[in-house]
Amino acid sequence: METIWLSHSVEETLALAARFAVRLRGGGAVALQGDLGSGKTCFAKGVVSALSGVEPAEIPSPTFTLVEEYRGEGPIYHVDLYRMRDAREAEELAWDEILAPGAVALVEWPERMEKIIPYCQFRLSFSKEGEGVRRIALAERATSDVCR
Ligand SMILES: Nc1ncnc2c1ncn2[C@@H]1O[C@H](COP(=O)(O)OP(=O)(O)O)[C@@H](O)[C@H]1O
Ligand SMILES: [Mg+2]
Repeated sequence: METIWLSHSVEETLALAARFAVRLRGGGAVALQGDLGSGKTCFAKGVVSALSGVEPAEIPSPTFTLVEEYRGEGPIYHVDLYRMRDAREAEELAWDEILAPGAVALVEWPERMEKIIPYCQFRLSFSKEGEGVRRIALAERATSDVCR
């Protein structure tokens, strides 16, 4: 099943993300897909903030570091594979920790490392619908179909 949200501002995306974050209590992996500027990082900041208490303004994009780690009930990993140069760089990330039970993983550009996608219980697809408007589609995979 797919749920569609329309957000009309950064604040609305942060608020949607904070509501979605409730579903990640206890852990879970989320694939965030969509073009540059479609709102993936904004949404991830909303989730991280809701789970960790860190202000969205204090949350950087992991564009260059590839991974940023936060602490909520368990570890929270915000990953961005956009600038990953090669497969080896991707393999060097601590995937066993990032995808561990109880951890929250938010992965931007998961298509850069296809084998991550089956581990993601949630897939969010972002698209620009015009100036300030973003369409966010949420698809949830049955728990029995999620890799562990
Ligand atoms: N409704 C909206 N939700 C999220 N971001 C929006 C929205 N409207 C405009 N924007 C702008 O779009 C950009 C989204 O950037 P970002 O979240 O970094 O995208 P991505 O990570 O997908 O490349 C920001 O510049 C933000 O100000
Ligand atoms: Mg981004």
